[in-house]
Amino acid sequence: MEHVLSYSKSYEEGADDGPHEMSPNYYYNALKYPCPPNLSIWWNIGSMLFLVLGAQLLTGILLSTSYTADEALASVSLEYVMRDSNYGWAVRSLHMGGASMFFALIYTHVARGVYFGVYLKNPHVWYSGLSLYVLSMGVGFLGYVLPWGVMSYWGLTVITNMMTVIPGGARALDWFQGGFVISDVTLKRVFILHFLLPFVILGLSLTHVLLLHMNGSSNPLGLDETEFSVPFHPYYSIKDLAGFALLLAALVGITFTFASLTADPLQWQPVNKMKTPSVIKPEWYFLYAYAILRSIPHKAGGVSTMFAAIVGVAVFPMISGREKFQSMKVCPPARFVFLLWVANFTFLTVIGAQEPAGGWVLAGQFGTFFHLSALVMIPMIKEEWEWHLYQGARLSESCYPTKF
Ligand code: HEM
Repeated sequence: MEHVLSYSKSYEEGADDGPHEMSPNYYYNALKYPCPPNLSIWWNIGSMLFLVLGAQLLTGILLSTSYTADEALASVSLEYVMRDSNYGWAVRSLHMGGASMFFALIYTHVARGVYFGVYLKNPHVWYSGLSLYVLSMGVGFLGYVLPWGVMSYWGLTVITNMMTVIPGGARALDWFQGGFVISDVTLKRVFILHFLLPFVILGLSLTHVLLLHMNGSSNPLGLDETEFSVPFHPYYSIKDLAGFALLLAALVGITFTFASLTADPLQWQPVNKMKTPSVIKPEWYFLYAYAILRSIPHKAGGVSTMFAAIVGVAVFPMISGREKFQSMKVCPPARFVFLLWVANFTFLTVIGAQEPAGGWVLAGQFGTFFHLSALVMIPMIKEEWEWHLYQGARLSESCYPTKF
């Protein structure tokens, strides 16, 4: 406790380890980074994302040593990895399971951000995170193409065709494909992008954290209170290590027990360009977006609605502004809509896996409408709720913090 207090004191006195003072010694800076003392486990997710990103880079590089980006050899080379190369099955299973884990963590990280309103204190970190999410979606999708199974080919067909809705998109599509149809050349380009972009993600992730360190972390209470900061090391370095141990146990446990838990069986069938499968669908982590894409019976309308739904969380820092409390803990109506939003996300994920017919289409339209409305409703409700509380609080000033 003495350590905590002395650290807080030096911070108050304006010592050069405050969040606004980024010293060029980044190593020292990372260890001394002043953190709120009350960070909950939801603040572990960011470091977990780094761990999974590292695991994906490592297993990805190992897989690349045996993978062949050729229409005739892609699935055969992965068969070789699974059956003949030493521990190839473990590396590939970890890479596939790691991708699912990465997106599960990203969604939790974003939901944490929305619930605790961290975008209010750190909008620049929020936007850099959003770019990371969009890039990660691209990389995840490109990875799904590489085994060159049935879903790889038809998934690539559906997604790349979305380019045709923008002016000049048809030409851009031909350029990307390397011809008028998807071919061997396309697969090689997909592989190169899938190999290179994760390094961009790594660089952007470091920028993401650097930006955070310049302004300081939020905390679950949502009050901007830096008075009792504690240094990152040892307080949160130990906590992050505990998170890493749990995460690795979960990743290894799940992927080695249920190696193909989320994989579509059609991915194990070789591509047949003459036969379209009755249901074309992506991995589970893109199903919500896919459900939104299909719920609008107009190509350009569907594509733009899907993009709006993906990058929609960008509006949070724009709509909000007047709040003093970031967290939803003090706003039950917003919390209610938030929980419905999370449930609706799961609902859309289920819809995305169904054949787009009958009641599923209507359900998808309802889910899409709610998803988009909630993005606007949540920050508005929070702001209005607090505004009314604040007005009330002015009448009895003692019940609100002096910061008001
Ligand atoms: C590759 C993906 C990502 C990585 C590696 C990453 C990493 C991190 C880390 C290490 C932290 C600090 C610890 C924590 O608060 O959990 C953090 C904080 C943060 N992240 Fe991310 N993140 C990623 C994606 C995202 C996304 C998609 C968003 C939102 C759209 C986002 C928004 C934020 C925000 C606003 C904070 C600051 C939290 C605060 O104020 O305390 N991040 N991130």
